[in-house]
Parts: sequence; structure tokens; C-alpha cells
Amino acid sequence: MIISPSALSANFLHLENDIEMINKSEADWFHIDIMDGVFVPNISFGMPVMSALQKACKKPLDVHLMLHNPDNYIQDFARLGAAIITVHYESCPHLHRTIQNIKAAGAKAGVALNPHTPVNVLSEIINDLDLVLIMSVNPGFGGQKFIENTYSKCIELKQLILSKNANTLIEVDGGVTLENAPKLKAAGVDAVVAGNTVFASANPSETISLLKRI
Ligand code: DX5
Ligand code: ZN
Repeated sequence: MIISPSALSANFLHLENDIEMINKSEADWFHIDIMDGVFVPNISFGMPVMSALQKACKKPLDVHLMLHNPDNYIQDFARLGAAIITVHYESCPHLHRTIQNIKAAGAKAGVALNPHTPVNVLSEIINDLDLVLIMSVNPGFGGQKFIENTYSKCIELKQLILSKNANTLIEVDGGVTLENAPKLKAAGVDAVVAGNTVFASANPSETISLLKRI
């Protein structure tokens, strides 16, 4: 699977060290959580940090926008080096237009689904999506407990992707561990985000390698 460690769990006092670790590790992407305190009950970081990350990080930046109105910021994040921009289904009333805007800005386009949102809401747009991010916790914080219903949701999404002949990747975000990652792979998941599992471990680089070997 594609492994995308989450910057949210990095040490912000020594961010450069953690980025160096990511650069040298087997991580495929670096997951960047942008929270606005409106769509989710937490504020993470914004453009200045993203700009610094872009300069230091050699892995593709997998940007997860947890914003009330993401449309206003797509151009900015694309300019700041986002390889993938994922917006939430729940905050985009004109999702088709938003996806086209992400692609026009030069990034891959993803849509995230909160735990309560069924996958079939994407049936008419799945062919336009490079990635679907299944939230396996309620967005807003790292280190939360994985929601078990995620497996069946991933299986259903995989069926939708296959039935529509789409090339969409499935990414899972929240509470991913070395224990549940094999089950996610078996459910058809292509990419996993890992915050706490990587950065709270004794050897983050080795933990990334262990996830990569699943
Ligand atoms: C949660 C974020 C996640 C978070 C995952 O709202 O979207 O990306 O960083 O952290 P863990 O892996 O610790 O659950
Ligand atoms: Zn995220």
C-alpha cells in the first residue's frame, strides 16, 4: 500500500528533523491536515507552514482540506506544492466544479467522506476522482480510535469503483495501526494515513517500513 504519514503528529519544534526522517524513509506521500476550526473543531496550521514543508519535503504532499469553504484555497495549496488536494464531500455543495478546479490548478483530486456519509453519494462523480479518502475517525484530531464500520465501507467503495471502471484510489485516514492495516489492504484499500502510529513509535522510520511491508 501507499503509506502517507501525517504531519499533524510530527514534532513542530523540530519539524525539519521529522521531514528529513520522512525523506529518507519508505513513505510514499506526506499527509498534510489543514483544519479551520469551523468545519472541524480544531485548528491545525496554514500557508506559512505549508510553504516551509514544500521547501523541505521530497515526498508528494497529500493535502487534506478540512475547511468550511475549500474552494477559496485550492489555488493557494496547489501553488504551495500540493500533489493531491482532497476536499470533504460534506463541505462542497458544488463538488463537480470543485474537482474541476483542483485539476485545473494542476493537482490530483480527492474527496473525503466523514464516517456517517455513505459511499453511494459519489456514484455520479467517481470517474472524475483520483482518490477517495474514507475517514475512519471523525476528522479533527490525531490519535483517535479506528471506527470498525470502515472495512465494509471500503469494500462497498471498491465495488463502486470496479462497476464504473474508474481508476480511483482508496485512502483510509484515522486510527490506522499495524494491526488493522492488513485488514484494510484485504478490503481493497490502496493508501493509508498514519499519524500516531508512526510518530509515537520508538522508531518512526522502521514503523513506516513495517506498514510498507503489509
Ligand atoms: C484527522 C486527520 C488525520 C490524522 C490521523 O482529522 O485527518 O489525518 O492526522 O492521525 P492518526 O493516524 O493518529 O489517527
Ligand atoms: Zn487527514
